[in-house]
Amino acid sequence: MKFTYYGHACFSVDVAGNTLLFDPFITPNPLASSIEADKIPADYILVSHGHADHVADVVSIAQRTGATVIAPFEVGDWFEKKGVKNVQAMNHGGADETKFGRVKLTAAIHSSSMPDGTYGGNPCGFVVESTDGNFYYSGDSALTLDMKLIQEQTQLRFAVLPVGDFFTMGVDDALRAAEFVGTNKIVGVHYDTFPPIKLDRDAALKAARRVGTELLLPKIGESIEV
Ligand code: NI
Ligand code: MN
Repeated sequence: MKFTYYGHACFSVDVAGNTLLFDPFITPNPLASSIEADKIPADYILVSHGHADHVADVVSIAQRTGATVIAPFEVGDWFEKKGVKNVQAMNHGGADETKFGRVKLTAAIHSSSMPDGTYGGNPCGFVVESTDGNFYYSGDSALTLDMKLIQEQTQLRFAVLPVGDFFTMGVDDALRAAEFVGTNKIVGVHYDTFPPIKLDRDAALKAARRVGTELLLPKIGESIEV
């Protein structure tokens, strides 16, 4: 599967002929100034929670592409009120068969409110299952034992996990999360964007090597095969 990193926790994965874009936060991110948000392709936009650093470019990209926005119920409802036409507002534990395969909303330990202060419900993660393979994006989350349930149900090719610490898991907890969900391949996100989440790259890669986990940290704008 082709994975493209757009900075912070924004990335896309090409799944069964569809481009799934996650948590678009591009125009306000100075580190992603090389990315043109108005050119990014998307068939689906998956949004983990309402915080500004995950939703900033959802409306404009959804309006341009006609992508379906998949989000927790309150987040989806807010986008509908903002004029997004195709919204699939789901809730935790719920799954759906889509054009790209199956998507399920998982629990995340974090918080969620919309940029204007509207209640954003509970934050989520996503398990995506497809004929191309399966993966998990935790969204902003702490390490939680619930992640072990994912391993019981789905064999993952890789997991996308925050590694920046402070607002979410740091590297050590992300490595444990990978173990909980049953994969040894992580793409790290949610780091470097703000001063408290600056990542010590060498230390992170070293920690991953120590436990035999592959930690991928693609450059902003880079595409990799996962
Ligand atoms: Ni957040
Ligand atoms: Mn965040």
